Amino acid sequence: MTQRKKPVGTAYDRVSSLTYDRNRFTTKQGLLFDALEWKELKRAIVKIPKGGSVLEAGCGTARFSQRLGEFGYNVRAVDLSPDMLEVASEKCKALDNVTFALEEAVDLSSEDSTFDLTFSIRVTNQTESVDYALEMIQEMIRVTKLGGLVLVEFVNAQRPFSKKSKDIKLSGEQISEIARESNCRVERQRGILIFSQTILNKVPRVLIPLWHIVEQLASAVLGKWASRGYIILEKLHPSPERFLGKKIGIFVVAGFCQPEYLNAISGHVQIPLMAAKALVEGGYQVTLITTKPRPADILPKAIPESIQIKVLVHASRNWPEKGIQPIKAFRQFWQLLSFLKRESFGWEFDWLKLIH
Ligand SMILES: C[S@@+](CC[C@H](N)C(=O)[O-])C[C@H]1O[C@@H](n2cnc3c(N)ncnc32)[C@H](O)[C@@H]1O
Repeated sequence: MTQRKKPVGTAYDRVSSLTYDRNRFTTKQGLLFDALEWKELKRAIVKIPKGGSVLEAGCGTARFSQRLGEFGYNVRAVDLSPDMLEVASEKCKALDNVTFALEEAVDLSSEDSTFDLTFSIRVTNQTESVDYALEMIQEMIRVTKLGGLVLVEFVNAQRPFSKKSKDIKLSGEQISEIARESNCRVERQRGILIFSQTILNKVPRVLIPLWHIVEQLASAVLGKWASRGYIILEKLHPSPERFLGKKIGIFVVAGFCQPEYLNAISGHVQIPLMAAKALVEGGYQVTLITTKPRPADILPKAIPESIQIKVLVHASRNWPEKGIQPIKAFRQFWQLLSFLKRESFGWEFDWLKLIH
């Protein structure tokens, strides 16, 4: 990290710290904005076990640190403004799992790889420059554990026709580049407030629920151009240890074959099985999820002995008939979901990826 000559300033003095929450988060519009931001933070926090360690960089009046403390996380909250920290400490005085410190976000005193989650909301835009904001993200990555998450909120530089302002703007690409350089993976990127906060503040109270629905839909589709970006990074274990022990399920319909096809079954079966073999050799824990064999069927040679096998009901009609049997297909889907849940497989479904 480069050595700074003078500490950066913060606009949050005594007066603004005492009015911060009241001025921003008590109107119907403010409460909605707060709820949208909390929802984005929850996307990261659900992946951290209760009791996990969290660092908030630029905690302000502990709007989020307080909630996380109440949910049982161990929070270290840092800020540059003594006045904001005073308000924050007062709000959290009943929580002994939330601690505060006067620290600059680019120069955190925590050791490397300390926190399960490090996050910052409404701070990068208030820093002195783009370089400073990116340096702050690097510093947040430094103090995050291997396998841990970093959530950064930013004012989106890629928003078309955005008004000129003092805000420091970043793009998802700039942060992704920092992530790549620091051996992190972009876990998720989203945008909120496609219609901007200025517009939200002008929406009449009665129309807020309708605005909320339109905002959710528009941001889901056009999030890249929303005014606020949220990016979640995962700090990776150095490859390949990060994969060791991870469970991978490979679903192959009709993974069994007749004895004469032991070495020569079709590519759509053989290729996933070869992949399974390579993954087992690479240290993964692989389960082959397949469908019920006919009495004479056997497993093809490509299946390693250490591979676990889960058999589901077969839903296709018997060859040469074509198509699927709907009730069996439903049973198969149900069996698959129950299996994934029982075995605690992580899984993700992203409508946006499907549309793209
Ligand atoms: C708009 S407030 C956001 C507070 C809180 N994250 C929230 O969303 O309610 C910005 C906070 O970031 C702090 N801040 C700004 N630059 C900082 C820096 N370089 N290091 C630490 N804190 C900083 C400010 O003092 C202020 O409390």
